Amino acid sequence: MLFGWKRAGPGLHFFSTCMVAIGTLFSAFWILSANSWMQTPQGWTWAEDGTMIATNFMDVIFNPSLPSRFAHMVLAAFLTTAMVVAGASAFSLLKKRAIPESRVALRMAVLMMALVTPVQIVAGHESGIVAGEHQPAKVAALEGWWTTQAQQPTVLIGWPDESAETNHFELAVPGLGSAVNNAGPEEVLPGLDQFEEADRPPVWIVFWSFRIMVGMGLAMLTLGIWGAAAWALKRLDASTWYHRALVLAAPSGFVAVLTGWITAEVGRQPYVVYGVLRTADAVSPVPAGSVATSLLFFIVVYGIVFSAGALYILRLLAKGPDSDEPVPDSNQPPGTPLGAAIEEAP
Ligand code: HEM
Repeated sequence: MLFGWKRAGPGLHFFSTCMVAIGTLFSAFWILSANSWMQTPQGWTWAEDGTMIATNFMDVIFNPSLPSRFAHMVLAAFLTTAMVVAGASAFSLLKKRAIPESRVALRMAVLMMALVTPVQIVAGHESGIVAGEHQPAKVAALEGWWTTQAQQPTVLIGWPDESAETNHFELAVPGLGSAVNNAGPEEVLPGLDQFEEADRPPVWIVFWSFRIMVGMGLAMLTLGIWGAAAWALKRLDASTWYHRALVLAAPSGFVAVLTGWITAEVGRQPYVVYGVLRTADAVSPVPAGSVATSLLFFIVVYGIVFSAGALYILRLLAKGPDSDEPVPDSNQPPGTPLGAAIEEAP
């Protein structure tokens, strides 16, 4: 093969993985910088003709919500991958197929879950603090706070009712919300009553999408700790309940990413550029029929691409790794935990 793939295998694998990682981080950076600016705009002014112009590109790029959002998103991508790898390798172990490869993959995924999920929770917390400083209505909506007060609660579950301006069936821990948001016991934190109805995001969607994302994060944390404990007790390969739980949790990263974005973007409403440009004012003068047609086109194309991709991945998972592919032992010295997984394999 080109470059002598077999001999240069691990090196080439490493090089191409690094290139893909750098490319992905670079692309993620610019996308998130643009999105973060729409959430926390700075470094701009109005021109005489009413358009927005940048006055300081560094301020535009490195706007206040970029660092926490970038960290949170990149870690989300790592975790999403880890959950799929964990689910696929657990599935193979349950089916007693490709055992050596699946053991290695399972250990890599457990390592990622156990180490990265706590960091992700800290990054998510930091995102919430930054949102609290710049987008208080978003935080009031995702927390389910209707009243401005000190000692805000953490609402665990509830049914936000926007017309009655309350949560039905609320289960809450008094005071914990303020503590989680780094506020002292006397500090008053804004509730939705601080904002005109026209300036509030759709509360129900933001409230629930936030809880689903956090729920997925806590599930990942539990699975990471469970996996690390099972590994330490040398029960990782034998624990069928753990493997079943991992198969069930395989899509959890996708669910967390989607609900995370819903929290961020619906939480930004009614603004396109927070506090500056309303979504209603940003509508282009395009007939509704044209918008509906292009939306339908996108739904159909994405539906086809997504289903084909999902089907292909599921087929690959069902088939398992090619038996003629070498077991990746060349870059795992014996005696390391991952190498040990191969040595132990029957
Ligand atoms: C468990 C604790 C978590 C907390 C406290 C948390 C917190 C947050 C907050 C406050 C936001 C909104 C940020 C904003 O609008 O500016 C957000 C967005 C987001 N979250 Fe989480 N999150 C958690 C877990 C996760 C997990 C496990 C994932 C994925 C694996 C995830 C993925 C995302 C994504 C993709 C966004 C949208 C991007 C962004 O605005 O940062 N989150 N998260």
